[in-house]
Amino acid sequence: MVKVNTCVFISGKGSNLKKLILNSNNYNFPIKIKLVVSNNKKAEGLKFARKWSIPYLIINNKQNLSEDKILIKIKYYKVNLILLAGYMKILSKNFIRSFGKSIINIHPSLLPKFKGLNTFEKALSQKEKKTGCTVHYVTEKLDSGRIILKKFFYIDNKDNIETLKKKTQRLEYNAFSEAIIKIIK
Ligand code: GRF
Repeated sequence: MVKVNTCVFISGKGSNLKKLILNSNNYNFPIKIKLVVSNNKKAEGLKFARKWSIPYLIINNKQNLSEDKILIKIKYYKVNLILLAGYMKILSKNFIRSFGKSIINIHPSLLPKFKGLNTFEKALSQKEKKTGCTVHYVTEKLDSGRIILKKFFYIDNKDNIETLKKKTQRLEYNAFSEAIIKIIK
């Protein structure tokens, strides 16, 4: 199968990255991860790039310079899809336009509810009945691009921030991969 050359952006633990790498090692999964980008040199997730010998790029926080570096690498690896998997930095309009291809993000709430940070706190304080995750296209407006898919679960009264995070992440691993299959096939 012809796989889509993909770059995954991370900032932290990288559990979504790990799942994506494992799936992409499967012959039938339609992406090949050519590059990992992290804006945090201490991101735990970098160990997965090292373990599976995937090239990675660590950028610092000077927006223009670092985005230019990413664009150069992405061109080199002929990347056609970018996945934001816990990337905590906002991409500039210029970057999104210059790349010009699909960028997708996974967000830990049922968008359009609870854009931005602290989604679990918000779901609890607003006494939501359910929460979950959303995979969506990235546009210039934060967490507002077209939705590819959502997955949800019901919140019970014993839930707290930690349990919501765990339950949401469990859904995320499949949601991200299903969304990729959905947009590629
Ligand atoms: C995920 O929960 C995702 O929804 C959010 O950041 C988290 C990243 O977790 N955008 P990990 O680094 O993949 O473990």
